[in-house]
Amino acid sequence: MLARVYSCAVIGLEGVIVEVEVDFSNGLPAVIIVGLPDAAVQESRERVQTAVKNAGLHFPRHRIVVNLAPAAVRKEGPAYDLPIALGVIILSGSLPQEAVENTLVVGELSLDGVVRHTRGVLPMAATARAKGFRRMFVPEVDAPEAALIPGLEVYPVKTLADLYDHLSGCRLIEPFQPSSDPIEPFFVPTDFSEIKGQEHVKRALEVAAAGGHNVLMVGSPGAGKTLLARALPGILPEMSIEESLDVTRIYSVADQLPPGTPLIRHRPFRAPHHTISHAGLVGGGNIPKPGEISLAHRGVLFLDEFPEFGTRVLEVMRQPMEDKVVTISRAKGSLTFSANFQLVAAMNPCPCGFYGDSQKPCTCAHALVTKYQKRISGPLLDRIDIHIEVPRVDYEKLSGDRLGESSEAIRARVQAARDIQNKRFSNGEAKDVVCNADMRVGEVRQFCKLQDEGQSLMRAAMTQLSLSARAYHRVLKLARTIADLAGCEEIQSVHLAEALQYRPKLMIG
Ligand SMILES: Nc1ncnc2c1ncn2[C@@H]1O[C@H](COP(=O)(O)OP(=O)(O)O)[C@@H](O)[C@H]1O
Ligand SMILES: [Mg+2]
Repeated sequence: MLARVYSCAVIGLEGVIVEVEVDFSNGLPAVIIVGLPDAAVQESRERVQTAVKNAGLHFPRHRIVVNLAPAAVRKEGPAYDLPIALGVIILSGSLPQEAVENTLVVGELSLDGVVRHTRGVLPMAATARAKGFRRMFVPEVDAPEAALIPGLEVYPVKTLADLYDHLSGCRLIEPFQPSSDPIEPFFVPTDFSEIKGQEHVKRALEVAAAGGHNVLMVGSPGAGKTLLARALPGILPEMSIEESLDVTRIYSVADQLPPGTPLIRHRPFRAPHHTISHAGLVGGGNIPKPGEISLAHRGVLFLDEFPEFGTRVLEVMRQPMEDKVVTISRAKGSLTFSANFQLVAAMNPCPCGFYGDSQKPCTCAHALVTKYQKRISGPLLDRIDIHIEVPRVDYEKLSGDRLGESSEAIRARVQAARDIQNKRFSNGEAKDVVCNADMRVGEVRQFCKLQDEGQSLMRAAMTQLSLSARAYHRVLKLARTIADLAGCEEIQSVHLAEALQYRPKLMIG
């Protein structure tokens, strides 16, 4: 007799079904776990034995072998406690094997039999559904997350004893019913109406939000760069349900879903400090987890004090910025995590911060200013579509009580521009493109055609600004967004001219 319970591993962002086989073998009483388990899985033995006994059930005094298959998949973490415990209970004859037919089981056990939170439940549920499982037993706290996958019966499990009672038919657990309560945003952004002046910066942020373009703001301390960046989430377009699920999956695997937020409906806004580690930013670690650039997927990655992040860290962002995914290599093959973020960076123009300031003189040696700005390499700057100077706002404007346009009004225009993009990319090969910034060379050719006048403007700009081929494509994509905001089908010269204005200018002469 052999007991078999199905569970799930998470590799990168994908679930992989794991068969938990439990059987007796000859020898002294013990529990042996085989099939590439890590240390946390090995510790499962103690937790399972104690939890089964504490649930008032019989733990067989035999040698028990637990085999986790397929053997090639590395089993990480404590999520196999609950399926192993069930396997033992079935093996000892307390439950029939049929009780767990078509069923996926995940959950960590505490010694008293309470089923604890497990990370990655959303991708596991998606895999369960895809592989034809009908039911899933998950820790109670994770039920709302699993229930995001339609067509799967999700049972919230409080304790091992409750699960036993349910499967033996004596006290049933109700399947989880998702609630439709509104979801709180991560944080409440500053409203644009409270930011005085800075009209051209606001316009640039509107363009950035409309097309998903990267932005660099340069200005002296106190000019309002951080304030402006933190206002951006308030004008970002809504996420589609597919985008929401993509983002939520990353948070599920990173174990960063905020309590009470099974589904992330608001675009992420991540603002890591410049002292963050390499793995913290791009992902990695012993059990590879998504980093900040993946947690910012479909949202904003705000890097304040940009040059302080260090050259090495900034250079590793180049590839993900191009590919929209990050690849993490490890001993057993490599993993990829989505990382399609919108970069918003802010920096001072020089170490003292006042180079080019209208009021305070810069005290840096000229060579130091150059060195400071060189910390951001050309190829990285090239990948930033929108470069804006943020000047100090004069006292009259700052002290005036005239309110600017509200975030809500700006957001409506951004949303209209996104609706145009959604329609544009709704079929054919462009289906995976979400916004203008995502366009590849093929889409640029198809959707960013210039008329004669635009072409001659572009030709002149190419030589005057010595644009690289990459920069050329980026200007076209940006011009496309500006035309979309204006509701124009054709990219006109005015749109192109505005896009060219956002190219990096040499800050030092
Ligand atoms: N345009 C503005 N309108 C209203 N308040 C502003 C503006 N610019 C700056 N401030 C005020 O100055 C503070 C400092 O701005 P901050 O964004 O931190 O500057 P920076 O990041 O450029 O050093 C803000 O918290 C805000 O109170
Ligand atoms: Mg700041």
